[in-house]
Amino acid sequence: MNSVKACIFDLDGVIVDTAVYHYKAWKRLANQMGFDFTEEQNEKLKGVSRTRSLELILQWGSVTKTDAEKEELATQKNTWYVDMISHMKPDEILPGAKEFVQTCRDAGIKTALGSASKNSMMILEKIGMVNLFDAIIDGNKVSKAKPDPEVFLKGAEEVGIAPANCVVFEDAIAGIEAAIAGGMKSVGIGSPEVLGEANLVVSGLNEMSLEKLQAL
Ligand code: G6P
Ligand code: MG
Repeated sequence: MNSVKACIFDLDGVIVDTAVYHYKAWKRLANQMGFDFTEEQNEKLKGVSRTRSLELILQWGSVTKTDAEKEELATQKNTWYVDMISHMKPDEILPGAKEFVQTCRDAGIKTALGSASKNSMMILEKIGMVNLFDAIIDGNKVSKAKPDPEVFLKGAEEVGIAPANCVVFEDAIAGIEAAIAGGMKSVGIGSPEVLGEANLVVSGLNEMSLEKLQAL
């Protein structure tokens, strides 16, 4: 079997762990509005767009805001978030992530990024991984959020590989569902209880190898 021709990687939770920064920024925003925001709630925002995340937080805090206020709140959160990620360094790359992306490239497999984050480019620049992707599809290039497959289908198209020959790496259930909806194979990064729908679940890219990839 040698059908894998492209690997498409999610960013947050797969290449880097930015969840802690999202958490700090959302918590500050919630606290400013007079309610708390827990780590359990933050878990539910993995893979969820900025706008949708804010909707959920307002719902949890039983707060109603106008569209203009929501816009302002999302901008405020992003300013705090960008302030934190602007200090990110290559040592924040998750174990084995850079190595595995390079291994794919060395084997002639195309690599793409498929993330909901509008800050993807900045993060890739900070960790020095921009040049490791043949295509970068981020939140600025898509109109439909995961579990819609748009982000991954655009990645496949940009690297010129059919969806059936693509493998998606994702830490969020919505991302695994997006891969399935796009007709792609998927590898879940995290726990099998949550990501059971994936073809394979590993705890991190340090557990991946070309052998495991080609056996999918
Ligand atoms: C990823 C993260 C989400 C985040 C989303 C948008 O999917 O897992 O927690 O809300 O990106 O990120 P952004 O940087 O555009 O606010
Ligand atoms: Mg993710």
